[in-house]
Amino acid sequence: MKKIYSFLFALLNLGSLCQAQQPVKESKGFYQFLTDDPNQKPFYSDRQGVMAQNGMVASAHPESSRVGADILKKGGNAVDAAVAVQFALAVTHPSAGNIGGGGFMVFRAADGKSYTLDFREKAPLKGGKDMYLDAEGNVVPGLSTLGHLASGVPGSVEGMAVAHARFGKLLWSELLQPAIDLAEKGVVQTDREARGLNAIKANVQKVNPGTRYFLRTDGRDWQAGDTLMQPDLAKVLRAIQKKGSKGFYKGKVARQIAREMKKNKGIISKKDLKEYHAKWREPIIGDYKNYKIITMPPTSSGGVALMQLLRLVEPYPLTRWGWNTDSTAQVMIEAERRVYADRAKFLGDPDFVDVPVDKLISYDYLKKRWQDFSFGKATDSKAVSGGDLPGYESLETTHFSVVDKDRNAVSITTTLNGGYGSKVIVKGGGFFMNNEMDDFSVKAGVPNMFGLIGNKANEIAPSKRMLSSMTPTIVEKDGKLYMVVGTPGGSTIITAVYQTILNVLEHGMTMQQSVNALKFHHQWLPDKTVFEAGAFTDNTIDKLQNRGYILEQQRNTIGRMDCILLLPDGSLEGASDPRGDDVSVGY
Ligand code: DON
Repeated sequence: MKKIYSFLFALLNLGSLCQAQQPVKESKGFYQFLTDDPNQKPFYSDRQGVMAQNGMVASAHPESSRVGADILKKGGNAVDAAVAVQFALAVTHPSAGNIGGGGFMVFRAADGKSYTLDFREKAPLKGGKDMYLDAEGNVVPGLSTLGHLASGVPGSVEGMAVAHARFGKLLWSELLQPAIDLAEKGVVQTDREARGLNAIKANVQKVNPGTRYFLRTDGRDWQAGDTLMQPDLAKVLRAIQKKGSKGFYKGKVARQIAREMKKNKGIISKKDLKEYHAKWREPIIGDYKNYKIITMPPTSSGGVALMQLLRLVEPYPLTRWGWNTDSTAQVMIEAERRVYADRAKFLGDPDFVDVPVDKLISYDYLKKRWQDFSFGKATDSKAVSGGDLPGYESLETTHFSVVDKDRNAVSITTTLNGGYGSKVIVKGGGFFMNNEMDDFSVKAGVPNMFGLIGNKANEIAPSKRMLSSMTPTIVEKDGKLYMVVGTPGGSTIITAVYQTILNVLEHGMTMQQSVNALKFHHQWLPDKTVFEAGAFTDNTIDKLQNRGYILEQQRNTIGRMDCILLLPDGSLEGASDPRGDDVSVGY
């Protein structure tokens, strides 16, 4: 079947293949080549990529990228650098970087073998499917997002320890030291971080009455240029440095977490912490044209969805149609609609439910998914009022990409879920706990904070992992490492990664242009396409609206990508998103 599908693609795409080989030009001509409007500038900014020969780290904070690059320069490999970056981000970027959260790692070793590590949080042993419902069976607002009951059992520290034990080269203690230094000496706040801390002040006080953590000593608002000191976090990091993951999951820190929970009606226990394990899983590896996509399997929905999205649009001549033109946008949106419907129905923790991954990404199945599509009219998402997609603004996760001199590559997305997670700060530990429990389907059909709907496959059970959209991904071309990609953004993660890959593969963009490119998103329900201002021309908007698409320009940005591309001469292009404080550092 794949053959027939490829043949269809070849027929449709003859023109586009020729165009794809045209050199990329940094001129108005290039924009014209991309869009149906010669005056449209399709980028959020003109930022240029960072070029380097040996190694590259792209992350959400300049200090964290520097820490990673220093580890590479010292002879550490990509996994060593990633471990150091994860801990550094817990200090420099506390809204999303974490030790109290979880995440996923995709690792492609220089020998071409790939591995994926699931260090996603788990529901506590005392958790259950009705834990966020009242006596009438209604969802209690805020219970799965704010406060102690919102937290899953954290996985990040165990994830880093497991990754390092298998693939690390440098000493564990060396990888923790930069984060400890940052916590002890302090981190100068960017404007964004200062605003973030000010915005959560009320909730932090509500959840942790009387706390002094994350407040200026004089009680005034944070400002850019202020220094945030985190001495208690430094002590926790020292315990991890000395005892490995036991320094977090057992002993003093575990007692601090369990006490914090017990005193405040949380349910994470010492047993939960002791029994947490990260898990190596079989990566999803699939072809898209002559590229190989290596991505995260469930408990993430991201890899399945990304593979489906790419294969759904594979038969269409996106290059010839052009970037974000009506036809290109239409097939991409329709693919998104179908994929997010599948996500809600089929995906959950594979240790608890049977997830038909192979079937979902098979060409046979995907071909059938197009049966009810016609170019004349938008497909109906079936009227379920999913409500508004609540603001993306204060929501945070973080992604980083690393490539070392031997071309080992790491793609990690890690999160507390919402910005600063549950707002619970562990007393004595000085770090935020996640509010990842909201990623479960707390009640079938009720949207979570990203407007995502779930079902039985993603209902809460003790020790189960909640479904994620995080999509750390690596792309291979001709058997060689080509691209490392990922982003935060809740439900928009999948579609932002999808667009970022297609921008390079189909529209001839550089890595940085692809990151800069304006983006859009559809997630089946609510049935509308949200887009960054300028992502579509007026002409395209008219055409899509005439076919029944509901389009909504949004104030907030989509994606905060940190990606790396291998250039034809073997060097690296680091591309960090100008939408955040993100910076690539290479050497
Ligand atoms: O795992 C997930 O899908 C979510 N917890 C990710 C949250 C997120 O990306 C928020 N940041 N923008």
